[in-house]
Amino acid sequence: MSKITLSKLYEMKKSGEKIVMITAYDALFAKIFDDEVDMVLVGDSLNMSFGGHSETLGASVEQMIYHARAVRRGLKRAYMVVDMPFCSCATPELALQNCAKVYESTGCDAVKIEGGAHMADTVALLNRNGIAVMSHIGLKPQFSRFTGGYKVSGRGEEGAREVLSDARALAEAGAVLLLVEGTISAVANQVALGTDVPVIGIGAGAGIDGQVLVWSDMCGFFTEFRPKFVKRYLDGAELVKGAVREYAREVKEKSFPSEEFEYKQ
Ligand code: KIV
Repeated sequence: MSKITLSKLYEMKKSGEKIVMITAYDALFAKIFDDEVDMVLVGDSLNMSFGGHSETLGASVEQMIYHARAVRRGLKRAYMVVDMPFCSCATPELALQNCAKVYESTGCDAVKIEGGAHMADTVALLNRNGIAVMSHIGLKPQFSRFTGGYKVSGRGEEGAREVLSDARALAEAGAVLLLVEGTISAVANQVALGTDVPVIGIGAGAGIDGQVLVWSDMCGFFTEFRPKFVKRYLDGAELVKGAVREYAREVKEKSFPSEEFEYKQ
């Protein structure tokens, strides 16, 4: 199967073929996902699902680079996006410095930046410097402490207007991809209909160009927090627990390692 390029993603949007994206944080799982999906996101959700924190704030540029390099080693085919962590793009100059570092050192295809129309100048600057940007609008987890929680976006006339104007401003500034999170489906649909830019959603309904899920949520490993939009495709935590329980039992019972697992002269 050939490598998924940005133009392939645009063709998929045009032809109505849905785009599938999943998160990955290491080479092991990136390799498993590579043939099954079109895009892989090294999300700052790693701070929660793998770092054990209660929010995404706290992930650093260096941590994102470490995980992204591992993911890069696991991918041959999927289009790879790396999340820019909290405040790493607070000014256009800082964004250029941090995004260039991530782009250069990880070999990713695009960086993802949370933020609405106010990030348009930053996106344009990155664009002029040859850095592809996926803009993350709607519910923005990096703003959740400030806004007092994870609030669904696009509600009411004003909410809808805000999401639509964010999408328009960022697409005009040169965002090559949009990610819409936790947004009223009808509003997300309007975003996708109003632009040639592929729009990937999470908790934004089925009418847009593609979907993304956090792998540890959809595989049932991260069980502390389950948003409405997460469908669980596997009971991962229980399956792994079961395997570890059996291993522990066999060691205690002295049935593992049996002869077949031993070295002989
Ligand atoms: O960090 C992440 O995994 C994300 C997804 C929720 C889209 O941004």
